Amino acid sequence: MSTTDKTSKKKTVTVTAPTIQAMKGGEKICCMTAYDYSSGMIADKAGVDLVLVGDSLAMVVLGHEDTLSVTVDEMVHHTRATSRGVKRALVVADLPFMSFATVELALKNSGRLIAEGHAKAVKLEGGVPVAPQIKAMTDAGIPVMAHVGLTPQHVARFGGFKAQGKSAEATRALIEDAQAVEAAGAFCVVLEAIPVESAQLITESVSIPTIGIGAGNVTDGQVLVYHDVLGMFDRFTPKFVRRFAELGEEAVTALERYCDDVRRTTFPGDKNTFYMPDDQLAQVRKIKVKAKKK
Ligand code: KIV
Repeated sequence: MSTTDKTSKKKTVTVTAPTIQAMKGGEKICCMTAYDYSSGMIADKAGVDLVLVGDSLAMVVLGHEDTLSVTVDEMVHHTRATSRGVKRALVVADLPFMSFATVELALKNSGRLIAEGHAKAVKLEGGVPVAPQIKAMTDAGIPVMAHVGLTPQHVARFGGFKAQGKSAEATRALIEDAQAVEAAGAFCVVLEAIPVESAQLITESVSIPTIGIGAGNVTDGQVLVYHDVLGMFDRFTPKFVRRFAELGEEAVTALERYCDDVRRTTFPGDKNTFYMPDDQLAQVRKIKVKAKKK
């Protein structure tokens, strides 16, 4: 049995936002995105602590160029499906682009993700500018995960999916962002695509856990996109991704074998076929059918 089998798979206690918050500086927090019943169930069975229904679903599930066009309705739909598959992990749903532009919108849309999608917390992108939204949602009883650094909803302003925080000034700004979201009530914060040195400083400057994606191994936890980890998204693979399987290739090979078997009539076989009960067979053979004219 590997270390992973021993440490995480046996955990059974339900994970809550306070559980994640209390893991600061302790065992690394393992987070993974998922977008439906089966991916949620698989991530949960693997012992992931936090399942994020990320707005990355726009790209890896819905095939959009970026994350900007996914709607609140779509997020609710996928969160609801994912929640059905997850028993232990904390389910967090992303607030899509512009769905939290004001405090009122943030409250309305996070309320939908919780009440209709059955998420147990929400995530939003941004630092200092979204602190009022984080405070309002937290005050309303909704746990909030924040996200700073490369925030894909700001891709137009960044001029592409580019690493952030690559100067002392930018690192100071990120520290301010992380401290602002903590002060507003966030229970953890994602740090995306920033130098490991900045991630280290941010992790030391806040008392909530930092969850890295492209932020080195100094953060309190890690998150990756399900399709990237399993080798199921081929458009591009960011530098910070490690593919732990090549399921995309395996799936194509399996479906090619299926097509071959159908064409050679070796599928379905005996084991996949229903047969008429013996006592009906003689009667069935007497049925006359008229051949259809072509
Ligand atoms: O949408 C997403 O999947 C995310 C994670 C990569 C952090 O925001």
